[in-house]
Amino acid sequence: MKSNKLVMVSLLAAALCMVAVTTVSAAPIVIKFSHVVAENTPKGQMANKFKELVEKKLPGKVEVEVFPNSQLFGDNKVLEAMMLGDVQMAAPSLSKFKKYTKSLQVFDLPFLFDDMAAVDRFQQGPAGQKLLHSVESKGLLGLGYLHNGLKQLSASSPLRVPADAKGKKFRIMSSDVLAAQFEAVGAMPLKKPFSEVFTLLQTKAIDGQENTWSNIYSKKFYEVQPYITESNHGLLDYLVITSTEFWNGLPDDIRVEVKKCLDEAIAFGNKVAAEKSVSDRQKIIDSKRSTIIELTPEQRQQWVDKMKPVWKKFEDEIGKEYVNAAIAANKK
Ligand code: SIN
Repeated sequence: MKSNKLVMVSLLAAALCMVAVTTVSAAPIVIKFSHVVAENTPKGQMANKFKELVEKKLPGKVEVEVFPNSQLFGDNKVLEAMMLGDVQMAAPSLSKFKKYTKSLQVFDLPFLFDDMAAVDRFQQGPAGQKLLHSVESKGLLGLGYLHNGLKQLSASSPLRVPADAKGKKFRIMSSDVLAAQFEAVGAMPLKKPFSEVFTLLQTKAIDGQENTWSNIYSKKFYEVQPYITESNHGLLDYLVITSTEFWNGLPDDIRVEVKKCLDEAIAFGNKVAAEKSVSDRQKIIDSKRSTIIELTPEQRQQWVDKMKPVWKKFEDEIGKEYVNAAIAANKK
């Protein structure tokens, strides 16, 4: 009887020990967050803020490893890598989802949004929220939108009217809408990864590119592009993305907390984006390396007239409901 009791006590002690060891040694969930831009950009700062928040709220349970500057994957590979489980989160530009859904192309239509407030209304409205799920059938899930801002045109010669772009080579992201947009002004678009843009510009393999103030500043494009036309002709925003397998596999309480941290990090990143669209523009002016061309209303209208017909070509594959909702978002 006494020895039975002893055995029971020893077994219980051993079981408790095992639980303790498991609890102590349970490896944290690791979220690899890969992106292509510098750390001093809206996306770079959002990713770092996300890491800080997650590791504060879920110490020992979740770790976030951020890989900036295409260190881990470039945009062309990151989504494939995500589906293989080699990376858990990323925030590619909305222009880089063509292989996964046609609907997100709505964000590339030139001269669609009047300003970033309209972009916000569209993204947070029913159509924008539905689009977060547009890649779900491919095993991916949009967790939220992050702003960078409106794009400008940079070039080796001044671009005031569309005829100035004729015959010139422009690097674009991997989007058919962006290709059509440059073809509409008689230019030659080239789809190239972000990591190659500086060298292509520096070696004059291409004449120009389109990007936001923060990307033009942080990647030093302004040092090799003597002219930047303030065209605000299109949007460069991001879809923060994960794989459905990873996301649904997270314990419920962890998933809720991680999403809260992400929402807070996105709000922070959006503030950074708004600030940088002003401060990075100013830093470029102050550098005196590049002349900023402000368009007259008549000049701007010429770009609109040439580029806007591109909408017609894509609205069926995008879905008219999305195009119409985006147009409606311009009305306050
Ligand atoms: C990015 O902002 O993530 C890159 C944009 C680009 O490829 O031009």
